[in-house]
Order: sequence, then C-alpha cells, then structure tokens
Amino acid sequence: MDTVVSGTRPTGTLHLGNYFGAVRNYVRLQNEAAKTFYFIADYHSLTTHHQPDTLGDLVRETAATYIAAGLDPDKTCLYVQSDVPETAELYLLFNMVAYKGELEKVPTFKEKIRKHDTNVNAGLLTYPVLMAADILIHRANKVPVGKDQEQHLEMTRHFAQRFNRRFGEDYFPEPVAYNFGNALIKVPGLDGMGKMSKSDNPNSAILFSDEDKAIRKKIMKAKTDAGPTEPGMPLTEEVANLFGLMELVSAPEAVKSFKSSYNDASIRYGDLKKQLAEDMVAFVAPFRERIRELLADRESLDRILRRGGEQARESAQETVRHARAMAGIRYYSA
Ligand code: ADP
Ligand code: TRP
Repeated sequence: MDTVVSGTRPTGTLHLGNYFGAVRNYVRLQNEAAKTFYFIADYHSLTTHHQPDTLGDLVRETAATYIAAGLDPDKTCLYVQSDVPETAELYLLFNMVAYKGELEKVPTFKEKIRKHDTNVNAGLLTYPVLMAADILIHRANKVPVGKDQEQHLEMTRHFAQRFNRRFGEDYFPEPVAYNFGNALIKVPGLDGMGKMSKSDNPNSAILFSDEDKAIRKKIMKAKTDAGPTEPGMPLTEEVANLFGLMELVSAPEAVKSFKSSYNDASIRYGDLKKQLAEDMVAFVAPFRERIRELLADRESLDRILRRGGEQARESAQETVRHARAMAGIRYYSA
C-alpha cells in the first residue's frame, strides 16, 4: 500500500518542467496509490522569496494548476504546507538528527548561496530537513519529483533512518524519488543550459500562464547553433534541448522527420522552431484557460484547500504524537 507525498514551491507560475518532471506523475499516482498528499510548499518558498503581498495569489495559482493538470480534490488530499503546523514540529525534531556538515554539502544549498549570497539564512541550510518532515509526516514511501530533488530524498532517508535508530523503533519509512521505475526527468531550459526553472530564469521557461504570442516568441528566441555541416554530426546541447522539448509536446512523426533532416544536414532550425512553437501553444492553451477559470472561482478553490488542510492535519497529528513519544515527550497520564 503506497502513500505518496509531493509539493511545489509557490515561487512563480508553474512551467513545463514542473509538469513533465513532477505534476504529471502526481496525477498518475492519484489513481494508483492508496493515499496521495500534494501540497503547496509556502514555507519553503520563504527561504528565498519574500513577497507577502503576492504569496496568496501564487499559492492559489499553484493549486489551480494542480487541478487543471488533473488532480481531483475528492481523490487526493490537496493542501497548503503552512496549514499543517505539525510539519513544523516534526521539522524541529528532525533537526536533532541532521548534521550541519552534511547540510552544508548539499549541492542545492551550495548553488543557492551562490545565487542568494546576501541572505544565507538557517532556513535555506535546513531546507532538506523541512522537506523530510513534509514527506515523513504522512509516512510516505513514494515521492514523485524531478531529477533536481534526488539528493533531497537521499537526505530524507538518512533522517528517517537515524531517527528510527536513535529512538529504537522502525517507525519512519525510507521514501524514494519516484518516476514509475524510469530515470527522473530534467526538462531543459530554452537558454541552452541547465534546467527549466521558474525561480532561476523565467525567460528560459514556458509558463502555463504564457499567452500564445509569448510562447512563440520564447521559442523563436531559443538558442541554437550554426547547424550541421555534414551528415551524422552530434547534437549540441542547445539543439538537443529543443529536440527534447519537441519529444514532450509534438507528434512522434514530426520529431522523427526533423531528426532525419538533422542527420542528413538539411535541417532549417527556423522550421523546427515554428513546429515546436505551434505544438507548444496547442499544449499550453487549454491549461492556461482552465487555470483562469479555476482562479475566477476563488471561493471554491479556498474551500478545497481548507478541507485538504484539515484532512492532512489528521494524518499529521498521528505521526507527530508518535514521534514525540518515541523521543520521550510523554509526561502526563491521560
Ligand atoms: P523551480 O525549480 O522551477 O522553482 P520547484 O523547485 O518548485 O520549481 O519544483 C517543483 C517540482 O518540479 C519538483 O518536483 C521539481 O523536481 C520539478 N521540476 C522543476 N523544474 C524541473 C525541470 N526543469 N525538469 C524536471 N522537473 C522539474
Ligand atoms: N524541494 C522541492 C522543490 O524545490 C519542493 C518540496 C518541498 C517537496 N517539500 C517537498 C517536494 C516534499 C517533494 C516532497 O521542488
């Protein structure tokens, strides 16, 4: 019996990377696993973003994107992280089994201090501890995420193992980053390097809020190279990325035909981009419209999130009660 947990930070509008790396699998698992919990990681977003005036809108937009992608609030528990304060208590307990040295070595931490060197706060350092608490608060065993989160899951397993060992009970499971037995996904950005990201470089990302015109413009501006000069040349990273995106949204025959024109060195990147842009527009537009409709009915959206928060708390309270008892925090009878 699988229990699944995953979340996304409300740091901006979701993009294709979030969808193909994570949210698409949230939806698949909703129909397969015994229990699924999907949340909006608002506490995590505070480690790097502090915009109190827009946070609420981003939280609702993230929730609307989940639902537009196919999450059904009657089948899955959809909630906001900060509506489950038990997570913060479990985070505190796990901080006692997390070592400063190992946290400092996490690649995402090192990268973040490079980018946010004026705000290296303790929340950023203990980011993986809070993430472990998110997952273990429901004692989940599967976590659908993109490739960039692999290391965080490894930390989660360490914390679970150590807590169990320290307090002498095999209570917490050791969850895995999950993609149906396949390698985890990294959707590339349009700038020819790194992953598509809402928080790092929004211009490299196709967002679900992008209008058709903006999508076409971003794709036409994507980096390419001078083109193959002879048959059978290897792909540069930029062009491989474009083919990678095409594989996600275009018909297999279209991908095949452009690959073969690349291989015989007759390809025109302009044609490839035009095809990709049209296929991308056709993919994104229905999402965008559905998200808009959902956002227009704020009351329903808020009702869904409040109800999800209450359900998540029930599961969380049980775990925290047990974890406190394991640590010896049980002083009073009845
Ligand atoms: P971002 O990096 O854009 O701020 P988040 O860190 O909130 O996005 O990621 C939310 C989920 O989406 C995570 O499971 C993450 O692994 C996944 N994800 C984000 N970007 C990509 C990408 N380019 N390719 C694959 N998965 C991604
Ligand atoms: N760290 C994840 C990201 O940046 C978001 C996240 C927070 C998460 N808590 C989680 C993902 C728990 C899966 C499970 O994308």
